[in-house]
Amino acid sequence: MAGVIESLRNDHSRITKLLDALERQMAAFEDGRTLDFDILDGILYYCLSYPDLHHHPLEDLIFDRLKERNPGALEGVRDLREEHAALAEKTRKFAAAIESVEQDIPLERSAIQEVAVEFLSAYRRHIMMEEKHFFPAAQRSLKPEDWAAIGAQLKPIEDPLFERREDQRFSAIYEDIIAWDQASMA
Ligand SMILES: [Fe+2]
Repeated sequence: MAGVIESLRNDHSRITKLLDALERQMAAFEDGRTLDFDILDGILYYCLSYPDLHHHPLEDLIFDRLKERNPGALEGVRDLREEHAALAEKTRKFAAAIESVEQDIPLERSAIQEVAVEFLSAYRRHIMMEEKHFFPAAQRSLKPEDWAAIGAQLKPIEDPLFERREDQRFSAIYEDIIAWDQASMA
């Protein structure tokens, strides 16, 4: 069932759109402009509610199955469960920093930039590792019955930002991404 990996790759390109939006925010902030908290809230809310609750748990199930089936195939793949826990921690740390700024708690600009850079580079590195090593290993080693077992453990859910689009907390980030995509195509 190649469809699972395809949808995980699709998630990655969507997550990358959010990371790019965050990078634009941080570049503007570095130039002395103010942060758009509606956009930042949307990015963080998305990371806390979709990758952390669906995308990463699904990858964890694939990782466990692969480890059981063919541990040798995991060469170059870091411990996904640990990486996902570390990413969730970095997301919470970044969310806490943004919350402090929103509540006017004094925080050095450099401290905000530091947690943002840490979050961004960890996410990008992690996605690259999965695309380069983890997905190909899973596609090579897992059999249709493995994919069926994985699918039975976790029901697919709609992406709350790119598919469901009901939650107003995603409005600003969605508009930002659309405007950027349109400007890039023009
Ligand atoms: Fe992933």
